Amino acid sequence: MANLKGKKAFIAGVGDDQGYGWAIAKGLAEAGATILIGTWTPMVNIFTQSWKLGKFDESRTLSDGSLMEYAKLYALDAAFDTPEDVPQEIKENKRYQEASHYTISEVAAKVAEDFGTIDIVVHCLANGPEVKKPLLETSRKGYLAAVSASAYSFVSMLKYFGPIMTHGGATVSLTYLASEKAVPGYGGGMSSAKAALESDTRTLAWEAGRKWGIRVNTISAGPLRSRAARAIGTIDSMIEYSKANAPLVKEMTAEEVSQAAAFLLSPAASAITGVTLYVDNGMHAMGMAVDSPSLKLV
Ligand SMILES: NC(=O)c1ccc[n+]([C@@H]2O[C@H](COP(=O)([O-])OP(=O)(O)OC[C@H]3O[C@@H](n4cnc5c(N)ncnc54)[C@H](O)[C@@H]3O)[C@@H](O)[C@H]2O)c1
Repeated sequence: MANLKGKKAFIAGVGDDQGYGWAIAKGLAEAGATILIGTWTPMVNIFTQSWKLGKFDESRTLSDGSLMEYAKLYALDAAFDTPEDVPQEIKENKRYQEASHYTISEVAAKVAEDFGTIDIVVHCLANGPEVKKPLLETSRKGYLAAVSASAYSFVSMLKYFGPIMTHGGATVSLTYLASEKAVPGYGGGMSSAKAALESDTRTLAWEAGRKWGIRVNTISAGPLRSRAARAIGTIDSMIEYSKANAPLVKEMTAEEVSQAAAFLLSPAASAITGVTLYVDNGMHAMGMAVDSPSLKLV
């Protein structure tokens, strides 16, 4: 297991105990890191209430029997960089009214104030308001919203967190195969957003490496029944499809992605940057659906 004792990690995109963000937070806690969480502003109350009520206690349990703790939770809306970007209708939305300082620049400034420097940043969030629409039916607004919340958000996070990261620090984001192969059902410009995220991983690896000595990698993860994936509506068939066609015949677990993330974020991966690492039971390597009824082979 990776050793992250003494490291401080900020994980953006933890809204419940079902997604990759939660699993990565838990994996980094197992490895000894101090956990800071960034939760989407409208989810903060429900998340903190559920935490207090003990609803996550079972999933918080670490291998030594103790419960995962976080040092601090920050409300974050990664669609906004500075307070000036927040539109009036959002400010007046009842799920934002009690919150403050949730834009990326403000969260980074708060983290610096609270903890000084930070070693690890994880981007585990995505949002495509028109994800259920095919690309051909996606509006310009929906497309740009997907790219803004799911890809530019990482550029902005690196821009504001980079200066407070320690030399040798590392970042990881989460991407999906639909960036490079057509995956029907993954619409709304989300495939475009993931393509941007992967391309940015390479460019930002160069820029952040030279500027701050920081590593930038992304994990192309297989299908997981998270809240976001359930909203797309096809997740169960995606899991079945992967089981039927991937080289490894088993359902992916969030822990498998978490372990890969912990490795990429640890000194054990100190020469690895600019990489898209597939953690998907090998699905990306296939060029044929072997369960297709039109096939008569193997
Ligand atoms: N679940 C899958 O099958 C799968 C596969 C490959 C990649 N991924 C990627 O993994 C990452 C995590 O997603 P997940 O599937 O675990 O679902 P999830 O629902 O656990 O995570 C998505 C998170 O993004 C947050 N979010 C949405 N808009 C935001 C905003 N503007 N600002 C801040 N936070 C915001 C949500 O509140 C949620 O907590 C995403 O990048 C997703 O695309 C998921």
